Amino acid sequence: MSKISRRRFVEGTGAGVIAVSAVPLEAQQKKSAANEPGGAQALAAPRTKIALTINGTKHSVEVEDRWTLNELLREHLELTGTKLGCDRAECGACTVLIDDVPHYSCSVLTHTVRDRKVQTIEGLAVEGALHPVQQAVVDEQGFQCAFCMPGFVMAAVGYLKTQPSPTRAELAHGVSGNLCRCQDYDKILTALMKGAEHMRNA
Ligand code: FES
Repeated sequence: MSKISRRRFVEGTGAGVIAVSAVPLEAQQKKSAANEPGGAQALAAPRTKIALTINGTKHSVEVEDRWTLNELLREHLELTGTKLGCDRAECGACTVLIDDVPHYSCSVLTHTVRDRKVQTIEGLAVEGALHPVQQAVVDEQGFQCAFCMPGFVMAAVGYLKTQPSPTRAELAHGVSGNLCRCQDYDKILTALMKGAEHMRNA
């Protein structure tokens, strides 16, 4: 029987522990999940095939059930006019219309929008002519950095469909779910009121 010193035994044991610990935790978890009933399939996110209309065009898409509408629009359909700010239903930068009603696209799961009609900022202009609210924003220069503007425009367009002749205070309330980090609310409201006027005269 070979003799081994206590020191060499401890050194050898230590090397073994380090080797095992060096395997990334994620890889260990994947390996054990793959060995369970269901195997690799258990790792795949559930997907659902849906049809929906975006800016007048019908789309048939297979989406992961965890995708938000914002994720589908920006990352998979390249409709990046819809912004992503807070990603938690606070700022309104991601506002789109679903069946003409403003929604935060960051907080709507795409598979729940099955068979519905989505309109984004890219879908407002008609044959190159800006929507009256878009034109008013340009004319009045109602923005500073403009990151929030697509959301404000979509919220205003949705609100003005239900109340075409609002007072300034009513319109302010109508878009109160949208925030401007530049604090440019007065100019934004002036532009949106002008947009309301353009819509009435269109
Ligand atoms: Fe959706 Fe802010 S990004 S509300």
